[in-house]
Amino acid sequence: MCGIIGKVGAGNVFPELINGLKNLEYRGYDSAGVAGVIDNKILRFRQEGRISNLETEIQKAKPESFIGIGHTRWATHGSPTKENAHPHMSNDGKFALVHNGIIENAEELKKSFLDGKIKLASQTDTEIVVQLMELFYNGDVISAISETCKALTGSFAFGILCEDTPNTLYAVGQSSPLLIVKSKTGHFIASDFCAVGEEAEAVYRLTDGEICALTENDIKFFNPSGKSIEKYPEKAEFSCSAFDKGEYDHFMLKEIFEQPKAVEDTIKSFLKENEIVFPNVKLYDNYIKEKLDKIIIVACGSAYHAGLSGKGILEKLCKIPCSVEIASEFRYGETFINENTLGIFISQSGETADTLAALRLAKKKGAKILSIVNVTGSAIAEESENVIYTKAGREIAVATTKAYSAQLVSLYALALYMGKIKGSIEEEKYKNLIKEFKILPEKIEKTIKTFTPEMEELANKIYKKKAIFFIGRLNDFATAAEGSLKMKEISYINSQSYPAGELKHGTISLIEDGTIVVAVAGKSKVFSKTASNVSEVQARGADVILITDESEKDCKVTAEFTVTVPETLKEFQNSLLVLPLQLLSYYTAKNLGCDIDRPKNLAKSVTVE
Ligand code: G6P
Repeated sequence: MCGIIGKVGAGNVFPELINGLKNLEYRGYDSAGVAGVIDNKILRFRQEGRISNLETEIQKAKPESFIGIGHTRWATHGSPTKENAHPHMSNDGKFALVHNGIIENAEELKKSFLDGKIKLASQTDTEIVVQLMELFYNGDVISAISETCKALTGSFAFGILCEDTPNTLYAVGQSSPLLIVKSKTGHFIASDFCAVGEEAEAVYRLTDGEICALTENDIKFFNPSGKSIEKYPEKAEFSCSAFDKGEYDHFMLKEIFEQPKAVEDTIKSFLKENEIVFPNVKLYDNYIKEKLDKIIIVACGSAYHAGLSGKGILEKLCKIPCSVEIASEFRYGETFINENTLGIFISQSGETADTLAALRLAKKKGAKILSIVNVTGSAIAEESENVIYTKAGREIAVATTKAYSAQLVSLYALALYMGKIKGSIEEEKYKNLIKEFKILPEKIEKTIKTFTPEMEELANKIYKKKAIFFIGRLNDFATAAEGSLKMKEISYINSQSYPAGELKHGTISLIEDGTIVVAVAGKSKVFSKTASNVSEVQARGADVILITDESEKDCKVTAEFTVTVPETLKEFQNSLLVLPLQLLSYYTAKNLGCDIDRPKNLAKSVTVE
């Protein structure tokens, strides 16, 4: 994670760097810093915490430079202090550098190149890079960058200033996103479009260690060895309107309310006259019918929970065994995959380091790769032979809601698509599923509208609790796990999720008078089983919040609070059951005065392992 920006152009760059960093804050917010060249000397400003702290310093100091780099940090090496904040500088003060990514061999490099020679000013891996720049520099910056990068293992995107070439901004990108943007007011480097504003005219992506040198009037590209290369721009297409909270107090609430549209747009992108058509998927019918014998879904965080829901429907409609793996575990475990395996990689950002590494591993082993990604052109999308793009639009809040909902419907559609080809769904059933699929966005809208006031009220009752448990079976467990993650990530209440039947094997010892247990139990063959687990926790004093749907409204479960979402087909009900849970965590966190859109210690995009 971490976000980087740089600009060279007419006029003072510091205000633009600060604005750009604010839009990159979702990538981390432990500290922030900027550097520019003033009177041929590099000058830097750094502050712990949010960009606003840095902004205050800049407003006081009023520095002016037409070239500069900036950084917002999510700490990996070294605590979030000022001394560890970027930009880092070489000992001789000639180089300043910002970094997104992780240098895996930082300690080895320190020992072999720097020990005894240079006193380091921070605990970061990044400082080692800038000190190496100083060591390898013999008057040619491109060659120093090339030599330095050759010594590095890991992922990196760098923005670099050198005092000897005060009109040039340098950039390198390897396995971490870095855009080179030509705009009306100058040339930028940035981790994401959103840092640049709507002035962009053309965009280049740095890949595989490519180097770039930018001046006010020129952009030059080099391969990793420092040899000049040609690169061709992509058309810059993006919108910054997502950065406006509008009438909402938080982006998270805005994004919760955007879910009907996100889901509708996603469904519309592949549903053509009652048939599922994926424009970027080339899985041949005979592969699906005759070869495909195993599906693995790999993801992190909420995307992993979407995967758990996906497993249910894929197995049910396609009759193919499916396992769901946490990307950081999958990449280091034994992998039993081959060319008959379909690997599904789910990621909102499309740049989560572990998911990307898992994808590369599965590809190497011969699996067919299909990714479900929200960000067009992201690394995971680029490296996948098949892509389903969710149409959630830009998601700003760290806690995902609308992208998660869009992932769910993409998985449903994939199950419908493959089940139809495989002949494992009866014609009548397929028709019913498609019919219901089309009206799912309306039901999502109705559920959100109905439960917003109710969940606000319920949150008032539970926000002081120290712990909350979430339980559910099979598909409902996927929703329980997502509900629990939402709750802990934004309210910091210790919340845990369990398959409902597992609770009695240990965790039930934590249930006491007044403990809140959220039981997710939609219509299913295991409803009555979860109902028994509800009774068991109630017998030990728990207050139960039951999340169910209309088809179970006459059930015999008497919970302390019951949330009944509209009825839909079993296959799609996770899309409705999760909504009250998103709202409940939102209002709980709001009552607690938490920083909902920027929860502590988290980042939206996790580009380190
Ligand atoms: C981070 C975010 C989570 C997200 C996860 C996976 O931990 O805070 O909300 O689910 O990364 O991100 P991805 O972009 O791969 O979906």
